[in-house]
Amino acid sequence: MKTVILSLKLEQMSVAKKEYKRITVKSLIDMKEHNEKISMLTAYDYSMAKIVDGAGIDVILVGDSASNVMAGHETTLPITLDQMIYHASSVIRAVNRALVVVDLPFGSYQSDPKEALRSAIRIMKESGAHAVKLEGGKEIKESIKRILHAGIPVMGHLGLTPQSIYKFGTYTVRAKEEEEALKLIEDAKLLERAGCFAIVLEKIPAKLAKEVAESVSIPIIGIGAGNGVDGQVLVLHDLLGMTHEFHPRFLRRYLNLYDEMTGAISQYVDDVKSKDFPNDDEQY
Ligand code: KIV
Repeated sequence: MKTVILSLKLEQMSVAKKEYKRITVKSLIDMKEHNEKISMLTAYDYSMAKIVDGAGIDVILVGDSASNVMAGHETTLPITLDQMIYHASSVIRAVNRALVVVDLPFGSYQSDPKEALRSAIRIMKESGAHAVKLEGGKEIKESIKRILHAGIPVMGHLGLTPQSIYKFGTYTVRAKEEEEALKLIEDAKLLERAGCFAIVLEKIPAKLAKEVAESVSIPIIGIGAGNGVDGQVLVLHDLLGMTHEFHPRFLRRYLNLYDEMTGAISQYVDDVKSKDFPNDDEQY
């Protein structure tokens, strides 16, 4: 009897999790239906993607945040389609389980639906990715439909959309005013009707994000959007504490790799200078 009670308790405590051999867009919708939260992280290269996939992440986003964390640009605008394809193909070579979604970079889809489709096809064909992500609502509806008609799954992105940073002027919380909040809810419904399989909601009030998640049947994945949504996404380098100057309220750091790595590298410098490295066992 005692054992039964204990195992029942353990079952209740453990995270609700169904085993998926390979994550597809259908798995994510299934997770929402079964109230299982979706985990998503960025990755931009083979070695990191291998670790992230092996740790059991559901979705890997090859985000255009590569422009910031990999290339050191101030915004996501400069990264090119060729560079995104390079990052995405490195990630794809490492991944066995996760769904890999790739950002269409700024300038590769905004001018017209044909250009958007051409860019999405290049990403799918040249990198082997599983889906693409585009920023925006009503204004890019036709591009989304065109991409979907070609059989390419599309993830939406609303709220703070970093490719429009010069329109917003700041990276502060979006949709605090009623007018913008109502537009965001309308846009989310529109993206669902257009056929998007999920939507990222970035930096909006938690109450609004919950309302959006409850008003659509596709998964809502939040970043700085509270706990009432269907999943969470973070930039890997932020979670690992490599970007130590960046500390928004929504970020939980799981490591302090900036300091760990600095310590290890300065130790190596000292060991080389002092002729301690390599020692007798570290040579042929
Ligand atoms: O590019 C990116 O990393 C993103 C996430 C912040 C969602 O779009």
